[in-house]
Amino acid sequence: MPETRFTDIRRFESIDSTNRYLLDEARNGAPEGVVVVADHQSSGRGRLGRHWEAPPGSNLLASVLLRPDLAPADRHLATAVVALAAIDAIVTETGMAPGIKWPNDLVGPGYRKLAGVLAEADMGSNATGGVGAMCPAIVVGIGVNVGWPLSDGDLPDDLVGIATSLRQETGRPVDRTALLHRLLAALEPRVAALGSVDGRARLGSDLRRHCTTIGERVRVDLLDESFEGTAIDVTAEGHLIVDVGVCMRTVVAGDVIHLRPIGDTRHAPGSFGSHE
Ligand code: BTN
Repeated sequence: MPETRFTDIRRFESIDSTNRYLLDEARNGAPEGVVVVADHQSSGRGRLGRHWEAPPGSNLLASVLLRPDLAPADRHLATAVVALAAIDAIVTETGMAPGIKWPNDLVGPGYRKLAGVLAEADMGSNATGGVGAMCPAIVVGIGVNVGWPLSDGDLPDDLVGIATSLRQETGRPVDRTALLHRLLAALEPRVAALGSVDGRARLGSDLRRHCTTIGERVRVDLLDESFEGTAIDVTAEGHLIVDVGVCMRTVVAGDVIHLRPIGDTRHAPGSFGSHE
């Protein structure tokens, strides 16, 4: 593996959540670059307070600790770098090229979910300014469906047509450890890019280039309402702009469902932020 900042890789057979563990380590002053990987999580966390579950030993469950010096408006790029590095790794390891379904899901054919990314920040005591102070910690966790599901038959009814795996899509086993190492190698230059204006602009445009939601008819489910429209862009802050006819709406957080145009069999009826 090329030299990277990700040399402290901590492996667990079982843990509650790699994100939880790494956030605690961050609060105790752990430096950027620590990686945690688990065969199984008993309380894996997904977006919007959901659970993330996978059978032991089947999928890649990992978190990385970043401490980028980013303005609040750019912090979403810390999540994006992991999603983009995961795409790079999957392309190299399998030949498949997943897209990004807003905000951070990696999706395969039919918009079926291959991976989810969850960033959690600690703005606590080690995040103050001053000589020797560290930047705020952002723990970015990723769950990649590597070996599970093997087929739709493995999935609970509500995930059929929604989730898939590298194994299911490629028809062959994929090595989780090799994938993690490729991801970390791809992550190094992407994290370095966070440190410059040009680098951040490049990351933003890579994100938009891979975002399969742009141009799609979507339904947006917020806590208290739903609406439909056409997703037209992702802003520099990572927000989704949806044209609802009478106006543009900006979506900061929520579930986006790609709607299937009548007669179009390429698109699954929807997908969402996590395995519930
Ligand atoms: C999503 O809801 O799509 C995000 C899922 C993120 C799951 C990963 S698995 C490794 C890391 N640890 C967690 O508890 N969650 C993330």
